[in-house]
Amino acid sequence: MSHRVTLIPGDGIGPEVTKATVRILEATGVKFEWESFQVGADAFERYGEYIPKEVIESIERTRVGLKGPVTTPVGGGFSSINVALRQKFELYANFRPIRNLPHIPTRYPDVDLIIVRENTESLYSGLEHEVVPGVVESLKIITEKASTRIAKFAFEYARKNQRKKIHAIHKANIMKLSDGLFLRCCRNVAREYPGIAYGEHIVDNTCMQLVMNPYQYDMLVMENLYGDIISDLCAAFVGGLGFVPSANLGDHCAIFEAVHGSAPDIAGKNLANPTALLRSSLLMLRHLGEFDASTVIRNALEKVYRHREKLTKDIGGRAGTSEFADAVIEEMDNAKAAPAAVP
Ligand code: NAI
Repeated sequence: MSHRVTLIPGDGIGPEVTKATVRILEATGVKFEWESFQVGADAFERYGEYIPKEVIESIERTRVGLKGPVTTPVGGGFSSINVALRQKFELYANFRPIRNLPHIPTRYPDVDLIIVRENTESLYSGLEHEVVPGVVESLKIITEKASTRIAKFAFEYARKNQRKKIHAIHKANIMKLSDGLFLRCCRNVAREYPGIAYGEHIVDNTCMQLVMNPYQYDMLVMENLYGDIISDLCAAFVGGLGFVPSANLGDHCAIFEAVHGSAPDIAGKNLANPTALLRSSLLMLRHLGEFDASTVIRNALEKVYRHREKLTKDIGGRAGTSEFADAVIEEMDNAKAAPAAVP
């Protein structure tokens, strides 16, 4: 059986980390039929559309996407393709596990945190306008429906995966109506799960608490903007943005991508660490029911980090993106060739 997957390599470091990831995925022997598309500025130049309709049709068909990062111009230009895809397919839950890979020295070992970010509203609604010259308004949308849905997602995940505690992160002391509604929805859902401890922290305090002691948290649920910012902060616990995967999940489809962006500072130089997209692809493999392949890649990845010979520059190594991928594939081949353990 082969899996049809919509592939969006993206731009900047996207094509490099996507190529590395696809090579490793294919080396597992799992069969994929990739439907590959450009989006963003590259697509506009070629097809006159930022998100060609073929991409939408493909995701509607395959229901699974693997996506590299896509650049969004700052302070003008076109709106985020990433946000547009999440909204279009109602990928309401952005699931971001923050876990150390063994053998990577970091300030905090054994971090195991789950960030659940609401992915469809808040200040990402794109509702901005100039009221009068010199005054602009950005609208933050928070709805009962989306807040309840994301809280339920978080608590259901906790229940199924034996997580013990969820904190809702907010700024309801200032945004009394919007974040107040988000909190009320979280409290209502929390009451349905008496076995899971529930807490609330204000977002600015959360940043300080995380840096002081990330172990005090287990799962964090929050609206879109806070989730975006806190994910990058937490990436620093586990080696940086080169390590953190994510899954954009909806009721009908899912798109897997790294937390990081297109990293224009290192793009096209074979310097990017593909681990974050590779770990996102492991979430995809599990979503597709390919648990063995996911374990094979994870074991090989851990060995590459243990041997430390083929690490990328962000983690103090000298290997390029493609050499790193070669090393992971080599470890997978070594594992296949190893004699079976005596029972
Ligand atoms: P960024 O995540 O692209 O880069 C931040 C820093 O982390 C840079 O120093 C970069 O070199 C480093 N970095 C990121 N990924 C890395 C990797 N795999 N290996 C080694 N180093 C890595 O964030 P930035 O610079 O704020 O954003 C650049 C562009 O990416 C912007 O246009 C932004 O809108 C877009 N973006 C796209 C996302 C997506 O497609 N989902 C997510 C975040 C940003």
